[in-house]
Amino acid sequence: MSVAGRTVTGMAKTAGAGRAKPAYRCAECGWQSAKWVGRCGECQAWGTVGAAGAPAAPPRVVAAGPVTTPARPIGMVDVQSARSRPTGLDELDRVLGGGLVPGAVVLLAGEPGIGKSTLLLEVAALAAAPRSGSDAPRRPAPVLYVTGEESAEQVRLRADRVGAITDRLYLAAETDLAAVLGQVEAVRPEMLVVDSIQTIGTADVDGTPGGVTQIREVTANLIRVAKERGVTVVLVGHVTKDGAIAGPRLLEHLVDVVLYFEGDRHSRLRMIRAVKNRYGPTDELGCFDLSELGIVGLPDPSGLFLTRRAEPVPGTCVTVTLEGRRPLVAEVQALVAESFLPSPRRATSGLESARVAMVLAVLGRRCHIAMHQQDVYASTVGGVRLTETSVDLAVALAVAGSKVEQALSPNVIALGEVGLAGEVRAVPGVGRRLGEAGRLGFTCAVVPRGSLELGEVTPLKRPPRPRRSSRQDTADEAATAAAADAAMSVSDVNITPGNGGTAGFAGMRVIEVDSLNQALQVAFTAT
Ligand SMILES: Nc1ncnc2c1ncn2[C@@H]1O[C@H](COP(=O)(O)OP(=O)(O)O)[C@@H](O)[C@H]1O
Ligand SMILES: [Mg+2]
Repeated sequence: MSVAGRTVTGMAKTAGAGRAKPAYRCAECGWQSAKWVGRCGECQAWGTVGAAGAPAAPPRVVAAGPVTTPARPIGMVDVQSARSRPTGLDELDRVLGGGLVPGAVVLLAGEPGIGKSTLLLEVAALAAAPRSGSDAPRRPAPVLYVTGEESAEQVRLRADRVGAITDRLYLAAETDLAAVLGQVEAVRPEMLVVDSIQTIGTADVDGTPGGVTQIREVTANLIRVAKERGVTVVLVGHVTKDGAIAGPRLLEHLVDVVLYFEGDRHSRLRMIRAVKNRYGPTDELGCFDLSELGIVGLPDPSGLFLTRRAEPVPGTCVTVTLEGRRPLVAEVQALVAESFLPSPRRATSGLESARVAMVLAVLGRRCHIAMHQQDVYASTVGGVRLTETSVDLAVALAVAGSKVEQALSPNVIALGEVGLAGEVRAVPGVGRRLGEAGRLGFTCAVVPRGSLELGEVTPLKRPPRPRRSSRQDTADEAATAAAADAAMSVSDVNITPGNGGTAGFAGMRVIEVDSLNQALQVAFTAT
């Protein structure tokens, strides 16, 4: 028995030793395979599986060695060097949470032609230019701009166009990592811009520049430079067709800040948002205007997404969307037109087509405003994308307004999520949204019930302000009367200043509605 047992154990061992060791490993997720495959079985990435080195030895006992810097009590750690320094572009500083931090590695990703090179050239020129003010350094620090995509002459032309010619801004056209590091050694910059990470390669590892292994190697080396020398490194990253940053997912883990540069190719508005930030919040949005003369911050972009017109037009409704923490007042437009097609068209621009289809279905079933035989077009103004569910109510009111040929009062805004049962659901940040609407002169808001209980707005204790006998006030009064008839809650509110950056103002009429039917009833009497 014992002999047989030993034989079996022995056989099992032999079989184990004979099994091929996983010899291929995915460079992205570390998945291992005995055979080479074109696509990783774990993360499904193409072309990332490569020959793995020798299998890892079992963990060994490591003896204690010398330390780089002795550990200190946390209170003794110097934070001065980790303080952010403003870039000079307020909108960018807002997204970064104050500015660029020495030693930080920032990745700026965006589609081709969106303005990445233009923005970074301006940031570099501002960092290299002599600054005024008490906190200005004695001598502006050199900045090194490495371009791997364009020739130095092309960048120079752009610098001429946008006015980014400064003595201490150094330009180098390089595509080899060793040469880039050599340039850093020679210039000793305080800021290094690499445009783009996908064009820099190194001969030390396999693969073509832009490939997974190359990007990882180049990034790791640039991060080392940043941390060792306290250089702020800004990397430009390409995005793939589906909008993700090209290269290994790991890239986003390696760097300190990941910024996305977005915008509609056909408009001049550009937006930057942080998707990762080790030094600040990630819910801020920076708005820019990209023109022939370069890129300038837009501290007040709200007016861009509205059409100011003398007479109200059926089929439009204004809403307030929250982009991160930033409220943006935007207009939704709809056109309902007779269709001559077997299946009528539904076209949207700047809105989620599935959400619009849902709102149309709710209007048809719950409010008896059916559009089976009609084409429906819905869009935003100024190329802004409204993807939040809080725009549902504005979409519904715009579509209904176009269908019944009735215009909303130009002073009304509407916000709320529309549910399949025809109810209007609460949305976050009502105080901040109403604050922004009030700042732009809107006097009446249709909001979901319960919005005022969130404590962001304070109902007025005193009776409503005396009403002037203007057209707008008559409209508000009509809405109030209609709301009162339907037993809806109407309050005049104060927005407390400084509440999440809202402007303070007094006296906005807020009508709280439960359902889309109520909203339609009250909104269209306010004309
Ligand atoms: N000579 C020019 N005059 C006016 N606009 C230009 C000129 N050259 C480029 N642009 C504009 O600047 C935009 C941004 O270009 P660029 O900063 O190179 O983008 P990216 O680096 O993101 O690819 C381009 O979309 C283009 O519209
Ligand atoms: Mg570029």
